[in-house]
Amino acid sequence: MFTVFATTVAGIENLAAKEAQEIIHKKAWIDGPGRIAINIDKMEDAVKLLYLARLVKRVTLKLSEASLNGAQEDLKTIYEAVYSSNFTYFLTANDSFAVRSKRVGTHEYTSIDVARVVGQAVIERILKEKNYRQRVNLSEPDVIFRSYVLHDRFYFALDLTGDISLERRGYRTEAVHPAPLSPILAASMLKLVGWNGAKNLLDPLCGLGTICIEAACMARNIPAAYLRKKTLQVVRRPPFPELNPEHVFSELDIKIKHHEKQPITGSDIKKKYIESAMRHAKIIMVDDTINFKAKKLEEYMKDQQGSFDLIVSNPPFGLRVGHPKNVTTVYCSLFKVARHLLTSNGKLCIITPHTKLVKSLSEKENLPITHERPVKYGNLNVKIFVCEK
Ligand SMILES: C[S@@+](CC[C@H](N)C(=O)[O-])C[C@H]1O[C@@H](n2cnc3c(N)ncnc32)[C@H](O)[C@@H]1O
Repeated sequence: MFTVFATTVAGIENLAAKEAQEIIHKKAWIDGPGRIAINIDKMEDAVKLLYLARLVKRVTLKLSEASLNGAQEDLKTIYEAVYSSNFTYFLTANDSFAVRSKRVGTHEYTSIDVARVVGQAVIERILKEKNYRQRVNLSEPDVIFRSYVLHDRFYFALDLTGDISLERRGYRTEAVHPAPLSPILAASMLKLVGWNGAKNLLDPLCGLGTICIEAACMARNIPAAYLRKKTLQVVRRPPFPELNPEHVFSELDIKIKHHEKQPITGSDIKKKYIESAMRHAKIIMVDDTINFKAKKLEEYMKDQQGSFDLIVSNPPFGLRVGHPKNVTTVYCSLFKVARHLLTSNGKLCIITPHTKLVKSLSEKENLPITHERPVKYGNLNVKIFVCEK
């Protein structure tokens, strides 16, 4: 049996655990902020998780763990935990390796100290056991080890993902927007409103179209890492010779419903964002199912009432760009539009730092909040709200 860790966005751990369970039919548990863990019997399950999970940033294979107390002596504990683990199996004499280290909390040492001690334990154990010195290559290693010091816990793991997070789906190639949404947060919002591909979905502030594109990929069973196959560490360097990730991918790709139509609309005031959104949708082959158009939010008031079941959107935060008064105007319009456009029992889901404003608008427009969850948006504390008509 193996234990696999998956990192995610803090605040959506229970959704990520549920998704992992649905993918590999094994119980997943929350292992800390932004982390879940799952026991698997076969490595193919880790590959499935890597390829399909929409709410996961990185998948690693646990090698060892230890308790810490924050003092210098932790470095000795970390050395022991690495030295005595079964990592040597994953390195051949020709391989180079790197240690990527992350530390959260207060400790008498830095993440650089941790990486140095972990690297030293790897080299000294190989020297003792195999009598050669393992090469280190920090920029293009064959094998990547991850060390996590998370408050009072240390984890040592083999990276199956690679240096590029699974959050980078590969379709967003044009960096023309100042604040594109994380696809993981977009997918979380869609899961929270029960998006299944059948309901009429609108994002009237769609920017580069992340929410619409994620919605189409979810409904069409297009794996989250569909465009990332070749970049995944598990493909570049399978941890077990008998593991054939490409074979697992092919079996999952059979389930893609390429030409199935979903009623998805995305619009934005800026034509240039819409043009990029269309090109991004084309890259992941969902351009034929999303109706992207340049349109001002307020114009929806002229459209027929009750024409959407779901509005899922990421309104401007107005923290870096834009005037606070303009932000309030957009939120007022969004709630008015939602009241007008949503079917009865329709849902509005938004992600925002402006919690007071949302609470007052939900009362004003009679769209009660039925779900509220704090999430991390980079370093910002924001909330996802679901309001129901
Ligand atoms: C935070 S961004 C959305 C980013 C998007 N979720 C993405 O992933 O690219 C908010 C968007 O609202 C658009 N916007 C602001 N005011 C608007 C209005 N009155 N009508 C339509 N779009 C508007 C902006 O152009 C911007 O692209």
